[in-house]
Amino acid sequence: MFRCIRVPKYFGETARRRLISSGMLDPGAKIRIDNDSILIPILADTFGDYDVIDADLEPTEHRETDYRNVANIPEELKELLPNSYDIIGDIAVVKFPDELVPYAEAAGDALLRTTSSLRAVMMDLGVKGELRVRDIRMIAGSGTSETIHKEFGVTMIADPGKAYFNPRLSTERMRIASMVKDNEIIIDMFAGVAPFPLVIAKHSKPSVIYSIDLNEDAAELMKRNIKLNRASNIIPLCGDASILIKDLPSADRIIMNLPQIADSFLHDALSNLKDGGTVHMHKIMERASSDETITELINEMKKKGYSIRIDREVELKTYSPTMSVYVLDIIKGS
Ligand SMILES: C[S@@+](CC[C@H](N)C(=O)[O-])C[C@H]1O[C@@H](n2cnc3c(N)ncnc32)[C@H](O)[C@@H]1O
Repeated sequence: MFRCIRVPKYFGETARRRLISSGMLDPGAKIRIDNDSILIPILADTFGDYDVIDADLEPTEHRETDYRNVANIPEELKELLPNSYDIIGDIAVVKFPDELVPYAEAAGDALLRTTSSLRAVMMDLGVKGELRVRDIRMIAGSGTSETIHKEFGVTMIADPGKAYFNPRLSTERMRIASMVKDNEIIIDMFAGVAPFPLVIAKHSKPSVIYSIDLNEDAAELMKRNIKLNRASNIIPLCGDASILIKDLPSADRIIMNLPQIADSFLHDALSNLKDGGTVHMHKIMERASSDETITELINEMKKKGYSIRIDREVELKTYSPTMSVYVLDIIKGS
């Protein structure tokens, strides 16, 4: 018997990727289809909200799947090898501590040999500049940094070397999609290659989604993704969101995924949001003082003439030892 999660077939690929990138996929058994579900073996007692059961799965022949065991690097450095990394399509994007940078190629090669779904491994040198593009360097494999990523039934072209893309936000994208009511007007101010608009267009029935990004490469990928998914209700726009938003109709919902500085655009968003409408704003906050930060934000908006309340605060990920990235669901009007 193997411990596994039961996942609707539709979400199987997304769940499998999340398990791999968090090091929780049990390589000891084969994934099995069970009517409309997929049973995926896991190395933990729970995973997200999925049902956990013990099932009779076929054991796999033993093949080393942990790249840390086969990486040709000094033994004493092996414990520094990261056990989690991003998988975007068929590319792994890995951040190494400084001590491992001289051995990045050897680590990348090991990852490629132990993960059959990968074509290339890139070293992550950090997200840089106003356009938030990741500085990446190919350390193993072949081809370019462009890839096809699948998420909740949406196929999207991503190129982490040209435009920001974060596969770890898939659950957040689905959370927003599930909140959207029929015929909503939506604006994504910082859309990248349009993952939020695409997941919303696939799973809900908005009338239109304006998808804005300043990065020309992101806007090009966005256009290709709209075509690929036949999402004719997504309108791609390239430019500064604080300017372009002024010419758009008032929205029911605005997405602001630019966690470093999104709050400096909040009044632009509120000026174009219907009363009772929602802003989903990503924001980096000190965990210990997030309540004070939110109170300051509410007061600042009050001074600018906007009454807002926070409907929900979701902690997305740890950003530093004391800070996290949050999403604030902000409602306009009291
Ligand atoms: C953190 S990324 C988010 C991308 C996307 N929402 C996602 O989930 O993959 C922020 C994006 O905002 C864009 N950006 C930065 N400043 C902008 C501005 N003033 N107007 C429009 N887009 C901007 C960047 O080019 C970048 O693609």
